[in-house]
Amino acid sequence: MYSLLRKALFTLDPERSHYIAMQGLQLAYQLRLLNRLPAIPPRPRTVMGLTFPHAAGLAAGLDKNADYVDALAALGFAFIEIGTVTPQPQAGNPRPRLFRLPEQEAIINRMGFNNKGVEYVARKLEQTAYRGILGINIGKNKDTPLENAADDYLFGFRHLWKFASYMTINISSPNTAGLRDLQQGDMLKALLGALKQEQQQIEKAHQKYVPLVVKISPDLSADALQALAQVLIEQRIDGVIATNTTLERQGVEQSAHAKETGGLSGKPLQSRSTETIRALHSMLQNRIPIIASGGIMDTASASEKLKAGASLLQVYTGFIYKGPAIIRQLATL
Ligand SMILES: Cc1cc2nc3c(=O)[nH]c(=O)nc-3n(C[C@H](O)[C@H](O)[C@H](O)COP(=O)(O)O)c2cc1C
Repeated sequence: MYSLLRKALFTLDPERSHYIAMQGLQLAYQLRLLNRLPAIPPRPRTVMGLTFPHAAGLAAGLDKNADYVDALAALGFAFIEIGTVTPQPQAGNPRPRLFRLPEQEAIINRMGFNNKGVEYVARKLEQTAYRGILGINIGKNKDTPLENAADDYLFGFRHLWKFASYMTINISSPNTAGLRDLQQGDMLKALLGALKQEQQQIEKAHQKYVPLVVKISPDLSADALQALAQVLIEQRIDGVIATNTTLERQGVEQSAHAKETGGLSGKPLQSRSTETIRALHSMLQNRIPIIASGGIMDTASASEKLKAGASLLQVYTGFIYKGPAIIRQLATL
């Protein structure tokens, strides 16, 4: 059934069809149609001190503003990551900024952190019924200078921690100028140090430990990845998401959209992202759990991620191309 729906949706502009699909999902939830879905048999696992009902979660970017959390949860995701949310609302890049590459089962996007801001998201989360595992992915506003980036992440953390099972520090989107520089050197240490300190203060004042997860790029050199892993260990970061989208265009050269600026996701990202997990796993030696994101399109690609060292899975592009059925399939792993 999803393949028919997908056919219809794919005739529309990608951003418009995203909106229509999410509104449709919301309506199905409100009409209680999603209650009829058979329950997913649990395969629980504990990661970062949190017990996940199974391994398959939703990656950031699909529900940037926490508008659809209850409806998405009803589909059976083991966890949902909302965001990226920035302190102030921002429009993102001009359209078009989202491109489908159906033959390659891929997407290129240069959304640029379009989102309604921290205050809006907090209001939405107040109204949300979902009590499962919620990740909140935070970023910096486009016009915040890189040297003040920590202020934006701290702002997001302080205003949203109480809703979060874990917080993701997004320093790997390719669509905010300079953001990926935060993955290196003193800027990385200063940023993670400040957030770690805030985490301790929140724990002390509110008796809630909110795990900090760092989301990384698949485009780091081996040396840069090694240096990053070292800082993650030193700063006692709780988890890593590997990976965000890539700037590479391997495997999509034939597409009319290959030259569009932005991050590439889906099948062409799969092996690059899995190799990042493998390398990271050998560097981290089980000291920090890895959450896989990047080209999970079926159980085979997901199994490879787990074999490479990941503890949990996140889907975005696979969910767009395969539909909600992918959640049930991945939940068997
Ligand atoms: C349209 C679109 C928007 C995205 N927005 C975000 C975002 O706001 N924050 C983020 O951390 N990742 C974002 N991502 C990256 C995804 O969360 C995911 O890490 C990436 O697409 C690789 O996984 P996939 O191949 O399953 O899509 C976005 C991806 C897409 C396709």
